[in-house]
Amino acid sequence: MCGIIGYIGKNNALKVITDGLKQLEYRGYDSAGIAIKNNNEIKIFKSVGKIKELEKKIDYTIQSDIGIGHTRWATHGSVNITNSHPHKVGSITLVHNGIIENYEQLKQELIKKNYQLKSDTDTEIACGYIDYLYQKDKNIITTLNKIKDIFKGSYAFAILVDNDNYLYATRKDSPLIIAKGENENYLASDVPAILKYTNQYYLLDNYEIAILEKDNIKILKDNKEIKKELLTFNYNIETSLKNGYDHFMLKEINEQDKLVESLINIYLQDKKTLLNKMPDFKKYNQIHIVACGSAYHAGLVGKYLIEKYANTKVYVEVASEYRYNKLFFDKKTLVIIISQSGETADSLASLRIAKENKIDTLAIVNVYGSSIAREASKTLYINAGCEIAVATTKAYTLQLLMLSFIALAMGIQKELIDDSSFEDIKKYYTKLPQLMHNEIKRDLKNIAKNIYKKNNIFFIGRGIDYALSLEGSLKLKEISYIHSEAYPAGELKHGTISLIEKNTPVIAIVTDENIYEKTISNIKEVASRGAYVILIISKHLDKDGDFYNEKIVIENTNSLINSLTAIIPLQLLAYNIALLKGCDIDKPRNLAKSVTVE
Ligand code: G6P
Repeated sequence: MCGIIGYIGKNNALKVITDGLKQLEYRGYDSAGIAIKNNNEIKIFKSVGKIKELEKKIDYTIQSDIGIGHTRWATHGSVNITNSHPHKVGSITLVHNGIIENYEQLKQELIKKNYQLKSDTDTEIACGYIDYLYQKDKNIITTLNKIKDIFKGSYAFAILVDNDNYLYATRKDSPLIIAKGENENYLASDVPAILKYTNQYYLLDNYEIAILEKDNIKILKDNKEIKKELLTFNYNIETSLKNGYDHFMLKEINEQDKLVESLINIYLQDKKTLLNKMPDFKKYNQIHIVACGSAYHAGLVGKYLIEKYANTKVYVEVASEYRYNKLFFDKKTLVIIISQSGETADSLASLRIAKENKIDTLAIVNVYGSSIAREASKTLYINAGCEIAVATTKAYTLQLLMLSFIALAMGIQKELIDDSSFEDIKKYYTKLPQLMHNEIKRDLKNIAKNIYKKNNIFFIGRGIDYALSLEGSLKLKEISYIHSEAYPAGELKHGTISLIEKNTPVIAIVTDENIYEKTISNIKEVASRGAYVILIISKHLDKDGDFYNEKIVIENTNSLINSLTAIIPLQLLAYNIALLKGCDIDKPRNLAKSVTVE
C-alpha cells in the first residue's frame, strides 16, 4: 500500500527521499512523487509507474534540505499523475496514507469556498481542507489539532507548509514513525524506508503531531509537548537486502530453516520456557482466529492443530467478514489475531471489536511495535525480520510454527500432553530445520516447466492439507497470475471436477494419515479424467501407483509441524512458475504488502 517518507537535514533531500521510496517499493504502488523546498519554493515531481520513472524526471542538482515523498496505491481515482501525491493546495503540501471517508462532504464545503480541485482523490480534499482551516487559524498546529474531529477514516500525513522550514506529521489509524539521525531526521510509514540511515525512532500515536527540524524533534499531544521513548529497531539491515538472490521471495524462502530454528530455540528449550511465554489457555473454551490473506490460511492450519492437540473449538474467519458479523462471544472466548505487518486495517478493527466486548486477545505478529502488537492483551512475535516480497513466505511459516507452539502449550495446560509426549514431540522440532533445509534445496524447475503455460491449476487436500492447498494456490495466483483454486479433495466432485480435462494440473497434498485413503481416492478421480497430477506426499504414506505424473516425497515429522516442510515445495513451485513466466515476482501487480485500508 501507499508509502511515506519525509526528510529534513544535512543531505540532499531529493536523493534521500528517492532512496527511501525505493525501500518502500515492496509495499506495492502504481505511482510516486516527491515535494521539496528549494529557496522557499515548493517543487513537486511525480510519475506513474516505478521509481525509476520518477528518477528520470528529477533534477538532482537542486539543493534542498527538506521534503516529502510517497508511493501511491490507488484507492480513490485512477492511476495518473494528477491523482498521485504530493498534493499542494494553497499553502499546504502533503502526502497521505489512509482513506478520508467523509471526503465528499468536505469537497462540497471547499467548492463553496471557491477551492479549485484538480484530482479525484480524497487526499487533495484533505489537503485543501487543511489549507482552508490554516488560512483562518494561521497556526498549523491549531489546524492539525482540529482535523481529528473533522476527518473521518484513517490518515498518516507528512506535511510541508509554505514559508516555514519544519516538517510536520500526524496520524490516525495509519502507521507513522519519526526517526532520529545525526543532524537529520526522518518520518516514514515503515521502517525499511529509513533503516539504511538510522535505527532510532519514535512511534507516533493517533492524533499526536510531530514537528521535525534537522536537529530537533518535538511531539505534541493535545497541544502539549510530550516525551516519548526513543526505540531502537533491532532488525538486521541484512534482512532488508537481497544478498545476492535474484528475488526477495527466493531469499525469504531460503531464510526459513534458520528462522524456524531460532524461534524453536527461544520457545522450546523446555516445557517451562514454553509455558512461561504463553498465556493461561485453560480459561478458554473457544477460540476465534481472525486474519487476512496468508495469515488467515495460517489460522486454518492452527485450527487443526489446536483442535487436535488441545481439544478446544476454534473458529477461523477472515477479518473483513468477522468485523461485520454478529459475534457470539462469551467470557471464555479468546480472540487470536494473526498479522505479519500488525497494521492490516480489517484485522486491527477485529481486534478492537473483541476488546470493546472485553474479550481477551492474543496477537501473532512480526513487526515490532505495530498497532496490533501494541493493542492486543498479549503479543507473540514471530521474529521473521523484514519481509520484503509482497507474497509472504517466511512470515507465514513462522506463523504456523507459533500456532504449533500454542497448540502444544494449550495441550500441556489442559493435561492432554504429558511430559514424555512433550519430550517425544520436541525431538521432531529438533529435526525440523534440517528437513526444511532439504526442501528448500529441492529443484522443482522441471515440474514448473511442465505446467507454467497452463491457464488453470487446481490444488486439493483434506483437513490440514486443504488448509495448505489454499496457501499454495494463493501463492501461485499472486505471483504468476495463473488462475488457481484450492478445493477440499472430497468436495471437488460437487462441481469443480467439471473443469478437469486432459492435462489440467492438479497439485494434491497428502500428509495426514487419518484420511490418506480418502484423499487418494479423490486423486484417482481426477487422474482418471486426464488431470496432470503432482503429488506432494509424506514419506510414510508414499506408495507406488499410476495416479500421479510427478511426485514430491516429503520427510515425515509430526502432525504438529508437517505443514512447515510441506509448504516449501508449494512456495518454490509458485516461484519457479512465476520466474518462467517472467513476472515481477517481488511486486506483483495490484497487490500491496500491508493493507492499511478496508
Ligand atoms: C496482504 C499481503 C498478504 C498478507 C495479507 C495480510 O494481502 O499481500 O501477504 O497475508 O495482506 O497481511 P498481514 O500483514 O495482516 O499478515
